[in-house]
Amino acid sequence: MVLEDIGRTSRRKLEHIDIVLSKPVEGPLTTWFEYVFLPQRALPRVDPDLVDLEVPFLGRRVGAPLIISAMTGGAPGTERINRTLAEVACTLKLALGLGSQRAGLEDPSVVYTYRVSRDSCAEIPIIGNIGIGELIKYGPSVLERVASMVEADAVAVHLNYFQEVVQPEGASHFSAGMEVLAKAVEVSPVPVIVKEVGFGLSREFVQELYDMGIRYVDIAGAGGTNWILVELYRAEEVGDTGKKLLAEGLKEVGIPTAISILEARSVSEELFIVGSGGIRTPYDAVKALRLGANMVGIARPLLEAYYRGTLADYLRSFITGMKAVVASLGISRVSEISRCPVVVLGLLRDWMEARGLEGVLRLSPEVGS
Ligand SMILES: Cc1cc2nc3c(=O)[nH]c(=O)nc-3n(C[C@H](O)[C@H](O)[C@H](O)COP(=O)(O)O)c2cc1C
Repeated sequence: MVLEDIGRTSRRKLEHIDIVLSKPVEGPLTTWFEYVFLPQRALPRVDPDLVDLEVPFLGRRVGAPLIISAMTGGAPGTERINRTLAEVACTLKLALGLGSQRAGLEDPSVVYTYRVSRDSCAEIPIIGNIGIGELIKYGPSVLERVASMVEADAVAVHLNYFQEVVQPEGASHFSAGMEVLAKAVEVSPVPVIVKEVGFGLSREFVQELYDMGIRYVDIAGAGGTNWILVELYRAEEVGDTGKKLLAEGLKEVGIPTAISILEARSVSEELFIVGSGGIRTPYDAVKALRLGANMVGIARPLLEAYYRGTLADYLRSFITGMKAVVASLGISRVSEISRCPVVVLGLLRDWMEARGLEGVLRLSPEVGS
């Protein structure tokens, strides 16, 4: 493909894919799941293949509390990725997040790159996606267009403040964001999910969202794909030394995923929390659920698996691993996870004490409820 022939938004999407596949884009923070332990039974009561991972999500039932997180669409060629993601999600009954639909709003000729996912699978929950910058620009009524473009069951509004700050062409003027979000939740035809992209959500911020009526968050915490590093490599590429230095200086910001789940859960038992950002193993996923996430999300490793041609195998073995861990905890349904013992140590424990979060682990609601 000739990059010059396509729009700037589409072009950036392709550069992002290239960078996350070819450069070291994780760290320096970790997820802090390394401080979480789930003491297991050496002799499970239930066979792993009989473990029930099904949960309800957005009015449908999914095969596992696992979302393919928002990644792509909007550039010619990305329809192949979205088609394969949707086909595999269909087979495994998983929810699918689409990449930002900004390009589809700007240029109707690329709508098919998103639309292909719904055309490939009628049954799975599909989550539309738009950035807070576009929500401010177009106004809350744009959510209707975003949702109908792909027959979405929900729309994620992504908050990528730090990415925009360091992005060579970024715009970090989001001060109207809260007001627009509050209106958006009132007028949206489908549930609004407020989603980070890898820096996590804090308790105070989630409380504000909750007070304005938001009931779904994707905390996308630190420890996985680091969008400051991604933009650092782009700044390097275009010779933007100022932005590169800025990215160097900010690359350690963020709330690790494990702690962000606890912070969000401390706000309410009613809140639906997607725990994502650096979920890399089935054990990470089950830890996230035990800390209070209703579902988990994975992005970059799935893109790698797609390019290797191993996406279905990756997800199948991930689900098998989750079942094995759940069985080892002495339960047969993932929705019972809050009954299982959990130990937190080190920095995570210190943070919980400093923020008065110790009670949260006793509060965990039914997963997926
Ligand atoms: C190539 C790529 C493109 C992404 N594009 C979007 C996007 O358009 N909208 C969004 O909300 N998040 C986007 N993300 C962020 C992911 O949804 C996720 O929140 C983040 O990468 C952290 O998850 P991970 O550590 O499993 O990659 C993208 C991630 C990747 C890897």
